[in-house]
Amino acid sequence: MREGTAARLKPASEPAASDRPIKVLFVCLGNICRSPTAEGVFRQLVKEAGLAGRIEVDSAGTGDYHIGERPDPRACWAASRRGYDLSPLRARQVTPDDFSEFDYVLAMDDLNMRALKQLAPPEQVHKLRMLTDFCSTGECSVPDPYAGGPQGFEHVLDLVEDAGQGLLRQIRSALST
Ligand code: 4NP
Repeated sequence: MREGTAARLKPASEPAASDRPIKVLFVCLGNICRSPTAEGVFRQLVKEAGLAGRIEVDSAGTGDYHIGERPDPRACWAASRRGYDLSPLRARQVTPDDFSEFDYVLAMDDLNMRALKQLAPPEQVHKLRMLTDFCSTGECSVPDPYAGGPQGFEHVLDLVEDAGQGLLRQIRSALST
């Protein structure tokens, strides 16, 4: 349909594209360590930037092992020491519908990226990025801390805090154009 006709048919109540919140989904394997950490950190950054109404944040896992569970206690503990509260979060599995719902679908590592590429409708695959694309440090993945020690959870926090700043900068410039 051509632009003029489409504009006439658009319901008056439908918000303009710029009024819709930007929606960000962080994705790891279990949705109990890395992606809830990223969700908690980015939610806080968005709040501090005064953009809570304009940017929505969620997380999910490519696997189904931990659906309905709270974040791993080690992730909660490490996050709480830096002032982030992960306690309200519960694990869920990513779905193909997430690709139409979200503007950014951000994978933590190559394993998750491959799973997400298989799930993504072809017309939505451009929404898929690595979270580390937004890092300032040249890292290329957020390593899985599940089978390791506490230092792994600190490293996840370091990476998602850094990437979160870069992501927020990009979204801010998109919101102001
Ligand atoms: P996440 O970590 O993907 O960062 O939530 C993991 C959590 C659970 C498992 C693997 C990774 N697991 O094998 O159960």
